[in-house]
Amino acid sequence: MTTPRLTHRRGRLVAAVSGLAVTAVTVALALPAAAAGSTLQAAASESGRYFGTAIAASRLSDGTYSSIANREFNMITAENEMKMDATEPNQNQFSYGNGDRIVSWARSNGKQVRGHALAWHSQQPGWMQNMSGSSLRNAMLNHVTQVATHYKGQVYAWDVVNEAFADGSSGGRRDSNLQRTGNDWIEAAFRAARAADPGAKLCYNDYNTDNWSHAKTQGVYNMVRDFKARGVPIDCVGFQAHFNSGNPVPSNYDVTLRNFAALGVDVQITELDIEGSGSSQAQQYQGVVQACLSVSRCTGITVWGVRDSDSWRASGTPLLFDGSGNKKAAYTSVLNQLNAGGTTTPTSNPTSNPTSNPTPSPTTTTPPTSGGSCTATYSEGQKWNDRFNGTVTIRANTNISSWQSTVTVRSPQKIIATWNGSPTWDSSGNVMTMRPSGSGALSAGQTTSFGFTVQHGGNWTWPSLTCTAS
Ligand code: G3I
Repeated sequence: MTTPRLTHRRGRLVAAVSGLAVTAVTVALALPAAAAGSTLQAAASESGRYFGTAIAASRLSDGTYSSIANREFNMITAENEMKMDATEPNQNQFSYGNGDRIVSWARSNGKQVRGHALAWHSQQPGWMQNMSGSSLRNAMLNHVTQVATHYKGQVYAWDVVNEAFADGSSGGRRDSNLQRTGNDWIEAAFRAARAADPGAKLCYNDYNTDNWSHAKTQGVYNMVRDFKARGVPIDCVGFQAHFNSGNPVPSNYDVTLRNFAALGVDVQITELDIEGSGSSQAQQYQGVVQACLSVSRCTGITVWGVRDSDSWRASGTPLLFDGSGNKKAAYTSVLNQLNAGGTTTPTSNPTSNPTSNPTPSPTTTTPPTSGGSCTATYSEGQKWNDRFNGTVTIRANTNISSWQSTVTVRSPQKIIATWNGSPTWDSSGNVMTMRPSGSGALSAGQTTSFGFTVQHGGNWTWPSLTCTAS
């Protein structure tokens, strides 16, 4: 990696991030001279963008947490409190306490709110998980209508549908109870959200959609193009942007953002975090900001938490503040890049739009070697009456170019959801083989993780694991 050179002259992009190609920089924005912003929100506002964070209601009483959040961010996403299980724990009994707490904190401090998420295969309340067909479709639409109506006028943008596309090379929809109600469930959700709150921007939000050549990116792109062509009300696409060494910031990120924007939607980075530390983490963060600034319809960036210790993957130290609330190198690089401004390229037709399933281009920073070994470790997550979450951490014992891990559950257990990987199943359905969604390269000592939800049917036994490196 080269060391980025930064200048604070507005309207000129000087920072060069190794591995992030900003293509065809043709139009320099003429921006008025302005003092450099001293906080993330002030610096982002200079180009009319927001800078946000996810907030957990339970942490708002922590003074260090809330004062950093108040000082640095002007867009707030509820990390878990507006999800389906939080807002409708029993059918038709809505529970808005924690969501309202976050909205009221945000608004009383002059901040806007991103709503997350109206319809999702994951974090469904128990009563919904076992539903199907038209009763599930109606329950989902009722949920979208009720929740969007409750927050009407208070939400800048809603993640109407979250994570509906499959990982891997299919480019198609993820199988889920909602998907099984019919392929039009997503557009039905968008129409219900528009009817309930016509003032909110309506977004489709997903992960592993950052690399333009990935099949999943293309699948979402084709859906958005189709929605725009048929008048389905969609205003924005959210790119979650959860990165780590196995899934680094792609070199064509700006291309992806620009091509989606060319469909006539805003694009937003919605859940940014990048595992790592020091200058390499700082450079990757800078690359994401640079990519957003290069696209005029990239309207804002949200990081997924305040301090490393607040993160859903705290051990990867993926955020901008350390556990004590100190600014990290990544913070400084983001602030400097926001203050340096960006150059935008005109929104035009896609640079390329593969029609067949493209092969993901390897974008690893670790030189691949053959062979090697890895270790898989299980850790328990949340438990419910009917299901539990688990996380598997893969650790490379030597430099490896990829890995795969089997997770075997015991009958009547069933894995009903996964994240951060591409699963396949044996014929019994008890053995899941998880492979990395992007590059699986890890250098010795590096870790990555994936997770899953097990419907346990009364059997609480931990799954057994293997890890194989190549
Ligand atoms: O609050 C309980 C605590 O009381 C309990 O002791 C503990 C035991 O496991 O669990 C705690 O709840 C956790 C909850 O987050 C609040 O921290 C759950 O275990 C945990 O599963 C839940 O994870 C959330 C995850 O979504 C669930 O899907 C993360 O906080 C949240 O950051 C994460 O966010 C998602 C986005 O919504 C969608 N995109 C991916 C992103 C990261 O996974």
